[in-house]
Amino acid sequence: MLLILCFVVSCFAQQPIPISSPRVAIVGAGAGGASCAYYLQKFTDYQFNITVFEKNSYVGGRATNIDFDGVEVELGASMFIEDNKILYNAVEEFNLSFANSSSDSTSFALWNGESMDYILEPSSNSVATYLKLVWRFGLYSIAVVKYQQQTAMKTFLNEYYEKYYPLSSLNSVTGLLKYTTVAAKDLFSSIWVSTNYQNFVQSLTRNNYAQDLTTIHSLGSLVLLSGESSLHVDGGNNQIFEKWIQASDADLRLNTAITAISKTSSGYAVSYGSHTEDYDIVVLAGPYDQLEIKTNISVSLTNAQYVHLHVTLVRTPHLLSESSYFNNKKTPQTVLTTGGDKFNSIGLVGYSDKYQEYVYKVFSYQSLNEQLLQGLFGKYSNKYEKTWYSYPYLSPISKFSEFKLAENLFYLNGMEQLISTMETSSLAGATVAGLLAQGRNTTQITVP
Ligand SMILES: Cc1cc2nc3c(=O)[nH]c(=O)nc-3n(C[C@H](O)[C@H](O)[C@H](O)COP(=O)(O)OP(=O)(O)OC[C@H]3O[C@@H](n4cnc5c(N)ncnc54)[C@H](O)[C@@H]3O)c2cc1C
Ligand SMILES: *[C@@H]1O[C@H](CO)[C@@H](O)[C@H](O)[C@H]1NC(C)=O
Ligand SMILES: *[C@@H]1O[C@H](CO)[C@@H](O)[C@H](O)[C@H]1NC(C)=O
Ligand SMILES: *[C@@H]1O[C@H](CO)[C@@H](O)[C@H](O)[C@H]1NC(C)=O
Ligand SMILES: *[C@@H]1O[C@H](CO)[C@@H](O)[C@H](O)[C@H]1NC(C)=O
Ligand SMILES: *[C@@H]1O[C@H](CO)[C@@H](O)[C@H](O)[C@H]1NC(C)=O
Repeated sequence: MLLILCFVVSCFAQQPIPISSPRVAIVGAGAGGASCAYYLQKFTDYQFNITVFEKNSYVGGRATNIDFDGVEVELGASMFIEDNKILYNAVEEFNLSFANSSSDSTSFALWNGESMDYILEPSSNSVATYLKLVWRFGLYSIAVVKYQQQTAMKTFLNEYYEKYYPLSSLNSVTGLLKYTTVAAKDLFSSIWVSTNYQNFVQSLTRNNYAQDLTTIHSLGSLVLLSGESSLHVDGGNNQIFEKWIQASDADLRLNTAITAISKTSSGYAVSYGSHTEDYDIVVLAGPYDQLEIKTNISVSLTNAQYVHLHVTLVRTPHLLSESSYFNNKKTPQTVLTTGGDKFNSIGLVGYSDKYQEYVYKVFSYQSLNEQLLQGLFGKYSNKYEKTWYSYPYLSPISKFSEFKLAENLFYLNGMEQLISTMETSSLAGATVAGLLAQGRNTTQITVP
């Protein structure tokens, strides 16, 4: 199977693109833009002439990894799950491999700013872990939330991947509105979820979206409760996006920020540096306000505010169990927070063989000061800080930005206000590819 898929891909890549092919400019080489390029060609057997513009020097956008003192660390998007069909299939199709995730066997604690709320000891198997969670939070709360999570997931897969694919608009299906219009706190309270289970879920929303249950919509919390083990591509998740762009035969222009777009008689004039080029179709594949593109094309978008997140990597000889800050010898290597502190989560991400020291990753709203760093990690050896506009504030929402902003002008990142992940950005890219492929000599328009 694997061999056949790879053969088909390399076969495709040798197809000459007809000279008269529509010219497509994709602005942004993250998950969304890369997926759009790949699926446009896949659905039409290479009927498009694609240029991908990327302002960074690399492909992947918010998925990028670095070598920090001998440990490979994802600075942005780190994990996905097997249910993420588009990503999962891409790993198989392109012969990438999954790194072994240690997180399944990692114990964690919930910190409320003053004390360790709860410590989940490592368990040798998932049944034992499940029983511990039941003992701690009660079967009712776990079961009632699980039911909501499964219903939401089923609706999502059915409406967005199967029945209506490719969706002409995020507003054309309504099955998830009951989750996106209601804050997680309100949903959980209405179905009598215990306070301590709500606190547990909040530690996940704080870790993954830097938001609390009072402000995040219900869907944003439910997607974090799949219970599946997390996957990560060995060598970096952004390899998926590199492979997609390669397979699309697109002309990739790194270090090239698009600065202006204007309407022409037949399409759009796209400007960068001192150059302007004409395209038939433009796909905007990054959060609109962050693209910083000058245009007089009037577009109607749902307002999106992005979280300003600090990611700090710290190399230290000390384990958290030695930390004077927590002052608790049982402190495990992952600490999630329920609120009340200057950081959202801390987790061990690797061990540097080169330095024989540990590497931790901390998420916070602000830069960590020296006093806090030394309290947490003792005398540490090195640190690295990266700031992101990481994901939108997932406020309750009932109307999403459209994929189609104007004739032949498309936008992917309205999707992020529904769910902000690599998979959903990839889905948005594939959806717009599907819309553009319709009516052409297409192969089957389906994902993955
Ligand atoms: C710290 C962190 C942790 C995360 N954890 C996870 C996780 O575990 N799992 C998960 O699935 N998701 C996670 N996410 C979210 C995930 O990274 C995003 O949802 C997803 O990668 C977004 O992809 P995108 O293609 O829509 O946008 P982006 O990746 O932001 O891509 C947009 C691209 O457009 C480029 N660009 C912008 N303006 C211009 C311009 N004018 N001209 C040319 N190019 C331009 C940018 O440089 C960027 O490369 C995390 C994000 C962060 C920051
Ligand atoms: C794509 O379009 C550009 C500009 O018109 C042209 O120079 C290039 O040859 C085209 N590529 C292919 C593969 O047709
Ligand atoms: C897949 O990767 C492995 C290990 O790198 C390599 O041995 C194998 O030839 C690759 N297969 C294909 C089809 O590319
Ligand atoms: C993951 O673990 C398996 C079995 O322990 C091993 O064979 C494999 O090489 C590991 N993969 C990576 C990427 O480390
Ligand atoms: C937008 O800009 C283009 C090119 O600069 C110009 O021809 C057009 O008239 C402008 N449209 C509006 C509505 O201002
Ligand atoms: C449609 O695509 C197939 C496969 O690429 C090709 O054989 C066929 O001639 C095309 N048909 C038309 C009408 O272009």
